[in-house]
Amino acid sequence: MKNIQPSALVLKMISYVLANQKGGVGKTSVSRHLIFRALEMKLRTLVIDFDPQANTTKTLLHLAKSANPTLDITEPGQVSDAGWLTTARLFHKDSKAQPMPVNEYASLIAADAELVDIADYSLDAIPQPRLSLGKFADQYDVCIIDTPPSQGKLLYAALAAANFVISPCTLDEDATDGLAALFQDIERVRDMEWNSDLKIMGIQINKMDKSSAHDRKALAALRDSVGDLVMKDIIYERAATRLAIRKPVWQGNRGENKGVAAVEMKAACNAILNHVAHQ
Ligand SMILES: Nc1ncnc2c1ncn2[C@@H]1O[C@H](COP(=O)(O)OP(=O)(O)OP(=O)(O)O)[C@@H](O)[C@H]1O
Ligand SMILES: [Mg+2]
Repeated sequence: MKNIQPSALVLKMISYVLANQKGGVGKTSVSRHLIFRALEMKLRTLVIDFDPQANTTKTLLHLAKSANPTLDITEPGQVSDAGWLTTARLFHKDSKAQPMPVNEYASLIAADAELVDIADYSLDAIPQPRLSLGKFADQYDVCIIDTPPSQGKLLYAALAAANFVISPCTLDEDATDGLAALFQDIERVRDMEWNSDLKIMGIQINKMDKSSAHDRKALAALRDSVGDLVMKDIIYERAATRLAIRKPVWQGNRGENKGVAAVEMKAACNAILNHVAHQ
């Protein structure tokens, strides 16, 4: 039924979770660029940081400071002190706190120190963030969820809160082997009915080395084993991408590969977000 309705009638927040338990594969870099691109597209964007490292939170606090130079929240720990909703508070049933406004289009649910305690919560807590987010769903077009490099309840809760999983992945064996564990976690989230509709959008290859025969072979092998799940746009290893923390690589002015890095990253982000535009 949904497909035959005019698009204006089915507008609803679409949530993407960036997940891969392997560290350093680009979950945060891709999250940031999706956020930067969504804001350029004037999409009302909710950002949720499930990673106690709080890297995405720091980028968003920087954006908030640029939009409002008098803002006195500069560290992740200050967000909950100021009364704003944080990711750990999403696990509390009755929190009345609101996401922190960042600029005209973005709001943030920041990572906080309490997140490390979630591992001790019971399994019943896993669907709570999804339920807590329900009340904001009509205020945003898109929600971007960054996750930590680990398995367990935090990751389950993040998967439970999303519509689509994107798994950034590098072409080394540890990262590609790790995909099997992620797929098992996704199955579990569906089977436990924490989120039966969770869909895999795809595996976003990141940090590919264009000149490496190993990487080309590994990509071919991955395509053989999971086919269309490997997303078409590849993000290559680029100095300019590594430096793009506070603004997107297509706005940066450092790094010898800025031109190609910009084009590749923007294409990958557009392919993901166009999905929102076409819902
Ligand atoms: N395409 C790229 N080219 C070059 N460097 C990159 C690229 N993508 C990410 N990096 C760099 O690799 C490092 C790890 O990336 P990032 O923090 O995004 O990974 P992550 O999966 O979020 O890590 P963690 O698991 O610790 O959260 C960072 O220094 C980042 O700047
Ligand atoms: Mg990260």
